This record gives sequence, C-alpha cells and structure tokens, in this order.
Amino acid sequence: DWTMESFVEDTIQDIRNKVGNRKVLCALSGGVDSSVVAVLIHKAIGDQLTCMFIDHGLLRKGEAESVMETFSGKFDMNVVKIDAKDRFLGKLQGISDPEQKRKIIGNEFIYVFDDESKKLGEFDFLAQGTLYTDIVESGTDTAQTIKSHHNVGGLPEDMKFELIEPLSTLFKDEVRKVGEECGLPQEIVWRQPFPGPGLAIRVLGEVTEEKLTIVRESDAILRDEIKKAGLDREIWQYFTALPNMKSVGVMGDARTYSYTVGIRAVTSIDGMTADWARIPYDVLEKISTRIVNEVDHVNRIVLDITSKPPATIEWE
Ligand code: XMP
Repeated sequence: DWTMESFVEDTIQDIRNKVGNRKVLCALSGGVDSSVVAVLIHKAIGDQLTCMFIDHGLLRKGEAESVMETFSGKFDMNVVKIDAKDRFLGKLQGISDPEQKRKIIGNEFIYVFDDESKKLGEFDFLAQGTLYTDIVESGTDTAQTIKSHHNVGGLPEDMKFELIEPLSTLFKDEVRKVGEECGLPQEIVWRQPFPGPGLAIRVLGEVTEEKLTIVRESDAILRDEIKKAGLDREIWQYFTALPNMKSVGVMGDARTYSYTVGIRAVTSIDGMTADWARIPYDVLEKISTRIVNEVDHVNRIVLDITSKPPATIEWE
C-alpha cells in the first residue's frame, strides 16, 4: 500500500533506472513543485542534475537569495542562476496590457532557458513539476483561458529532451508531503502560490524599476507582519499591488502627491474561488503605518474587500 516513504524510494529508483549515467536539466523556480522535483532527482542522481534558476527581476524581496541558499547551499546541488532582469524589463518597456505582459514574460522565459541551456552543454532529459491536476485540467481549462498562465507554454520544437515528470500522479497536498519527507524547509513546502509573471502583474500598467521597488518593499512588510501575527498558514495568499494611481496626502506641512498601495489577502482552497481575509485591524494598522513610513513614494494604503468572483485574486 501507498506511503510517502515508499513513493519517495520508488520514485528515486525509477529515476535512476531511466536516467542511467546521462544528464538532466531542471528549471527551478523556487516554487513547491519544481523544488520537490529538483530534490527528488538530486537524491537519485546527484551531480548528473543541473538546475537552472532564472531570475527575471520580478521576484519578491529576498527570494533569489533564499533559493540559492537552499539549493546550492543546504542541498549542495548544481544550480546555475541566470540574472535576466535586463532582458525581461527591456521587453516589458512601454507595455501596459496584462495579457501582453504575461505573453512577453512567458516567451522570454523560454528564450532565456533555450539560450542559457545551450551554454551549459548537452542534456538528455528535462525535469518538470507537472502535477496530476495539470494533466487532468489541460483539456478544458477555463482558469487558464481567463488568464494565460505562463507555465503551460511549450518549449521550442528543436529542444529535443525526454521529459521526467515525477509528480505527475500527485495532488498538491501530496507534493507538500513528499517535500517534507525530502527535508525541504517549511518556507518552501508551505509557500503561498506566486504567479510565474511575478511582480509584473502586481504593478498595474507599465512596469518600471521604481514601481517594482515599491511593490517589492511593501510586500515584504506585509509578509513580515502577517507572519508575526501568526496568520501566514490560514491566509492562502497575501501580497501588495500597486495600482497605477497617485493621490494627495500631507506630511509635516507639505502636501504630497504619491502612490497608493493595495493590500490583497484571500482565503481559498484552490484559487478558483476566494474570500477576502479578515485580517485583524491592529495587524492592518501596523502594516499600513510601516509601509507609509518605510517605503518611499507611498502616502495611502487601501484594502481589497472583494471576493472571487467577481474579482480575481491578482489585480491583473
Ligand atoms: P486569479 O488572479 O486568476 O488567480 O484569481 C488565481 C491563482 O492563479 C495565480 N495566477 C497565476 N499563476 N501565472 C501563474 O503561474 C499567471 O499568469 C497567473 N495569474 C494568476 C494567482 O496568483 C492565484 O494563485
């Protein structure tokens, strides 16, 4: 009968049999699925695995550092970090339509992956964190036609890899259990969902470095206070968004004209529907005060109190 331990052992053995002495490439995002895939394959074949971590410059505060610390550091894996911020931000310049932003980012991921993997040499296999639900849903996927999710895009035809998809029989909660069994840190196993296009869809309209900094810094404060309040497990997803608007405020004797930051926090089972999280007022007060005091160019904080539907979780 099925246990987590036997799943891990069997999967490791299957990977060894399949790969032999050949080489595997894995695109690591720091999300739960790709992290569990990377660790499982590393347990099976060690240095025959190379992970590529693409930093598109749209990650949250401290995220790139923590991915490198965990996988290159703690797990001692071959991880190549690609700093592609300029490529992505260059392509996004002047673009304000959400779907166009998603497409550009999704395509750029594939181009960067293609360019950089060629520099790393020859690989026989590509490892992917495909789950059972991804396979089942991909026929009639309404969620993904509402917003084109970047991570379902295909690879260029000339990339001739054999696929390894060790999680393709699992549901998300089982993936988390496998992650725990493999010794992944709690922050990764219980990480809140984070969209592939990253902060680009939380900066509404055109993405600029200044706006990314505001959303990144305010989001870090929000996450810190939610964690301190012990709410990080019960709130499914929580983040800040930067609407493309400024308003009047006052600081000292001077009038200010600065950005508004939005707080979005929801409870949900699967992201298909969601309810806005009832964060206690005293926690909201701390978040608001800290963001206005600590983040430049912000003078107003608003709270999103819509559920999904009719709103979506993300603001773009
Ligand atoms: P929405 O905003 O559609 O989000 O209610 C539902 C869930 O999907 C995530 N999301 C995305 N994930 N690429 C992703 O990988 C995307 O383009 C994307 N858009 C939304 C969102 O964070 C939430 O968990």
